[in-house]
This record gives sequence, structure tokens and C-alpha cells, in this order.
Amino acid sequence: MTVASVTVVNHPLVQHKLTLMRCKETSTSKFRTLLTEIGSFLGYEALRDLPLENIEINTPVCKTMAPTIAGKKLCLISILRAGDGLLPAMLDLVPSARIGQVGLQRDEETLQPVKFFFKVPPQIDKRLVVVLDPMLATGGSAIAAIDELKKAGANNLRFVCLLAAPEGIAALQEAHPDLPIITASIDEKLNENGYIIPGLGDAGDRLFGTKD
Ligand code: PRP
Ligand code: URA
Repeated sequence: MTVASVTVVNHPLVQHKLTLMRCKETSTSKFRTLLTEIGSFLGYEALRDLPLENIEINTPVCKTMAPTIAGKKLCLISILRAGDGLLPAMLDLVPSARIGQVGLQRDEETLQPVKFFFKVPPQIDKRLVVVLDPMLATGGSAIAAIDELKKAGANNLRFVCLLAAPEGIAALQEAHPDLPIITASIDEKLNENGYIIPGLGDAGDRLFGTKD
């Protein structure tokens, strides 16, 4: 069985900004800004193979054929809450994208994702679907989100995250081998509480400022 690619976007600027995000002293506002800045690099990589078609245009000097993005508007899926932190960067790249949200809350005891919301754009079966979540830890949330999206008809998906644990990548690849993964870093491991090591802590709390 072929397994889709895992791409690590390790541009020096991404590595530098990621180091700043990992620092516990980094403020909520700076954390958000950095996530948006890194999100652009991840977005460029995730959309590198968008299909193009030539259309006829008039430049100020002549008629010519020039490439534009082909097909239906793509769909961004945010895994709530933290996935919302990657939306501004992606929407800067593709302002006309449709947006869906999958609400999943990881139970801190069992580490199992609990679904609380699901809403996606129509004709998802005809769209490229880019699933966003900064953290791929055990992989439970990503797997549950992709399961639901496939049930809804999605068949052309990719997953964009900021940090991935090796355990999460292995679990996601086993459940969904067709899913390309784009990340800024593959970290070392998970700790006994399911947190990524070295990681950056709880991405949702740091993004929304919901913990002291
Ligand atoms: C975090 C993160 C992922 C999930 C990753 O969300 O944003 O969705 O944990 O862990 P997993 O790979 O082990 O499932 P969380 O459930 O804490 O919710 P939040 O976004 O509201 O903080
Ligand atoms: N979710 C987070 O936000 N951080 C982790 O390290 C693991 C899961």
C-alpha cells in the first residue's frame, strides 16, 4: 500500500518563528502572529500542486493565455478550537475558500476526541479539502475529523499542522494512508499526558489566552 507524503517545511524562517512559539514567555498576541506567519509557509506547501487551467486574458499590450486555479473553490476545515489559528494565513492565500468546522475536544483523561460540532460546505466531494489543526499529538482528533469528512463525501484531503508527534503521524497514516501531511516540525515524542515533547504546550490555550 502506498502511503501519502509527510512534508516538513523547515525553511530557516519557519524554524526561527517556531522556536519563538515554543518559548513559554511568548505572549498570546505574539503567538497568534507567529502562527499566522508560519501558516503562510505551510499553506504555500500544502497548495503547491493546485491544478491550473489556461484562460484567455488581455494585458495592456496583447491577448494571451495565462494560468488560473481550476475547479471548484477549495475548502478549509478548522478543527476547533486551535485550527482557527491557521485560518487567517490560509485565507490570505485563498480568500475565496469555503470554510467548514469540526468541533472536537480531547478528553484530558482518556485522550479520546469528543465531537461537539460539524458543519461543512456543500459539494465537499468536488473540492480539495485542507484540514487545519496546529497539533497532531496522538492523532485521535485528526483521525476522527477525517473519518467524519470522508463520511460527508470528501475524497481529496490533506492535513496541515504546526507540530506533529511521530506517534500521531503513524496513527494517522495507518487510519488514512491517502492523506498527505504538511507540518513545520516532527517533534520527539508524546509525554504520559499526551502532550508533544518538546512541543509548545496547549495550542488552544496559548492562542485564545484561556489559561494563566
Ligand atoms: C488539541 C489540538 C488537537 C488535539 C491534538 O485540541 O488542537 O485538536 O488536541 O491531540 P490528539 O492528536 O491527541 O487528538 P484540544 O482537544 O485540546 O482542543 P482545543 O483546540 O479546544 O484546545
Ligand atoms: N494538544 C495540544 O494543544 N498540545 C499538545 O502538546 C498535545 C495536544
